[in-house]
Amino acid sequence: MRRGGDLQGLAARPATLFARGRFALHEGLRVLARARGVRRVWLPAWLCAPVPEAVVAADLGVAWYDIDEQLAPRLDAIRPVRGDSLLVIHYFGLAQPLSLVRRFCDAHGLALIEDCAHALSCRAEAAGVGTVGDVAVFSPRKQAAVAGGGILVVAEDLAGHVRAPAVGGLGDAREMARLGLMLLERVAFAAGVNVLALKDRLPVIDVTDAAARPMTTATDYGHPPAPSRLVAHALGHVDWEALIRRRRQTYAALAGALARVPTVTLAIPQPPPGSTPLALPLWTAGADRLARALRRRGIEATCWPWGEQPPFDHARFPGAARWLTASVWLPLTAPLSPRRLARYVDAVADAAREQHAHTGARAA
Ligand SMILES: Cc1ncc(COP(=O)(O)O)c(C=O)c1O
Repeated sequence: MRRGGDLQGLAARPATLFARGRFALHEGLRVLARARGVRRVWLPAWLCAPVPEAVVAADLGVAWYDIDEQLAPRLDAIRPVRGDSLLVIHYFGLAQPLSLVRRFCDAHGLALIEDCAHALSCRAEAAGVGTVGDVAVFSPRKQAAVAGGGILVVAEDLAGHVRAPAVGGLGDAREMARLGLMLLERVAFAAGVNVLALKDRLPVIDVTDAAARPMTTATDYGHPPAPSRLVAHALGHVDWEALIRRRRQTYAALAGALARVPTVTLAIPQPPPGSTPLALPLWTAGADRLARALRRRGIEATCWPWGEQPPFDHARFPGAARWLTASVWLPLTAPLSPRRLARYVDAVADAAREQHAHTGARAA
């Protein structure tokens, strides 16, 4: 079953197109509440605001869990009750091994939700991300030059419950703004201009200030925009298999080169099987400072999710706190020629050296 455009290349199971990932998640949760009696969702403490917002908007409760150094759920601290479900995030496309998690869910009667907003799979990968959960959600705009879109993938027995929105129009104002920015960025990038300083001063589209407004949302889940015809068309024209291959090669090349830089500590030197990495994580003291130093050098590094992180107790969730405060993510979206790879590594080494000198000086 395919609804709303050609999603065939992307998913190995029934897939439905929404305007954005959050609307796909909201619908997936509604389906789980209706078909499986889900009333609450366990969420990792390290996440961006749209995830808990979609849960709250679906009238479900939230419980929090911690993650470990490999980004996996700390299952030992999860105390499920009847009506619970578990949401796992494949952060930045690093595929979480799910066999243990699936067994835990089955043993406790939990529905499993795979948040694949940063991840990518394709039909050729029958056991890829998004194939284990009862529900999985993708956000293809983070992967390729498409202005929006969210994909809901569900287990066969849930497919009849999904309310598919009608595809129509060219997209809402956010999608048009994103399209315009994407084009401008591409032109600037091709001309060798670093637009990140300017971009960092612009309001970010779709972002909620999670610290100021925890668990409330400006998104109208009651009246989601229609998935745009333009996005549906674009999704059918991306060569996903080639993109997946390229990202894996880029991660390996960058990780290999950075492993030889003494001031850099790779957080995950080798991505788990099935990963399509969107970024490569480093451990560092003062992550925010390093990310900003990299952005000044034209590398769009992030301390995810920056202002979109809902507040949480760092002592209770030390794993999540470490990822939030001590990791920097290096982007992998652009293909790296050997020359560009060398320039990239030099820039990271330079920024990391500066960071080392700064933290060393502060410690002295
Ligand atoms: C982990 C995660 N899940 C879900 C979403 C929602 O995706 P979208 O922005 O397409 O609504 C995002 C992005 O905001 C995300 O980072």
